[in-house]
Amino acid sequence: MVYKISVSLDHSSYDIHIYNKFSSNLSIPTIILNNKNSVIITNDTVRSIIAKKKYTYINKIIKNIPFFTIKDGESYKNLQVVESIIHFLLEKSYGRDVTLIALGGGVIGDITGFVASIYQRGVNFFQIPTTLLAQVDASIGGKTGVNHKLGKNMIGSFWQPNGVFIDINFLFTLPREHIISGMAEIIKYAIIFDKKFFIWLEENLLKILSLQEKELLFCIKKCCELKARVIQNDEKENNIRIFLNLGHSFAHAIETYTGYGKWLHGYAVSVGIIMASYLSVQLNLLHECNFFRIVKILYNIGLPIKGPKKMLPDDYILLMLRDKKVLNKIMRLVVPVDIGKVKLVSSVKESVLLNSIRNCQEQIYKF
Ligand code: NAD
Ligand code: GLY
Repeated sequence: MVYKISVSLDHSSYDIHIYNKFSSNLSIPTIILNNKNSVIITNDTVRSIIAKKKYTYINKIIKNIPFFTIKDGESYKNLQVVESIIHFLLEKSYGRDVTLIALGGGVIGDITGFVASIYQRGVNFFQIPTTLLAQVDASIGGKTGVNHKLGKNMIGSFWQPNGVFIDINFLFTLPREHIISGMAEIIKYAIIFDKKFFIWLEENLLKILSLQEKELLFCIKKCCELKARVIQNDEKENNIRIFLNLGHSFAHAIETYTGYGKWLHGYAVSVGIIMASYLSVQLNLLHECNFFRIVKILYNIGLPIKGPKKMLPDDYILLMLRDKKVLNKIMRLVVPVDIGKVKLVSSVKESVLLNSIRNCQEQIYKF
């Protein structure tokens, strides 16, 4: 193991373990291996990659532990799949002592966590995230859930994992577009909390993209530390955790509008961050030069900087009104006010928001 980061909570503390390229034969999962009542939840893609790649320890786990495999894709993050997992667990007579192990990206982590939170009123679960996005964000903090066709992540719960095991070896089989997608959440942390980290990212983008170990580990550790600090202070999103939603109101609208899976989550987040930043410029909260710096880092990594062409400003507003941050029908949005600092704004006039989305989509950038 290379790093251990603790998430200290009143009733559900746990550790995040981060492993490097050579520390594979890990203690990952002695806890899991020794548990006779574990079930792995994964998807067909991850399962076949693991079988081919011969990660010794994971294969050892798979040999000893039953697993339930779902189809790959955001479009399967739904209640029908939740039902199918619960059906499997009941059919095999798993009781409250079952431990679920989420082995996969954010989709697997979110569904498994949700099932863990409701199966027989709540059972233990571990996260073994296998995508960059899940390693830096989705596997930590206990947000679990599934999509509804009218809104992304609209059904869910807060249910903390009992441990998170991050092994960077998984990332070497991850398609590049998913590395890039994960980068959007990494850049998000820097814009929200840490200007020095943002500058470091500007300088080290290519090294991370080419999965250089030192930079990758630094980056994953940094995000896990930032997220652990937030969760410890605000587990259920009553104050500071809301900042982690930077760009997400716009992003979730894009994902819902286009149909789950058509736009990768990180790609939609990239556009969402740009729209939130543009709005902030319009509200005189963010200097234009910082806006361009934000657009440039996202562009340089290969992330989209504009939303789907056919999606109109009104389409955004309609879906954003269903966002979980809406209170008393008033939209609340997280916007950057500097690099490393964000603010929650509410009561933005609809006309300002509409114009802002329209102008942002029509911007011509010269880098
Ligand atoms: P994903 O889970 O769909 O994984 C992306 C793709 O990579 C899938 O095709 C998957 O099968 C494949 N894959 C996974 N591991 C692989 C590996 N090691 N090698 C090759 N292929 C691999 O998507 P994601 O980007 O990991 O997660 C996105 C989801 O996470 C969204 O549903 C989003 O809402 C959710 N999310 C949740 C939180 C949270 O706090 N709970 C935070 C951010 C995002
Ligand atoms: N990904 C946002 C959160 O965990 O709060």
